[in-house]
Amino acid sequence: MPEKTTIQVRFLPEDVTVICPSGELLLDCAARAGIRIPTGCQMGSCHACEVEIEGRGPVCACITSVRGVTEMIVTLANDPIW
Ligand code: FES
Repeated sequence: MPEKTTIQVRFLPEDVTVICPSGELLLDCAARAGIRIPTGCQMGSCHACEVEIEGRGPVCACITSVRGVTEMIVTLANDPIW
C-alpha cells in the first residue's frame, strides 16, 4: 500500500490542526502551525522537544517525522523549565 502523502496533525492543548507532507519533521510541522516547541540540541539527545504522540508515546520532535498514518494527535509537554 502506498504511503499517505499528507497527514493531518492536531496539536494539543492549543487544539491547532495542520496538514503536513509525509516525512516532515514534527518540529517543522508545529512551527508552520504557529506552535512553539522548545528545543535544545536538535539532534535527539536533550529531550527538550519531547512531545507525546497519541498511541505511540513520547518522542523527540526534532528527530521525528510524520508518516505512515492519516491523522496524528500530538500533546505538548507543559514543562515550565523549558
Ligand atoms: S532538541 Fe534536543 S532532543 Fe530535540
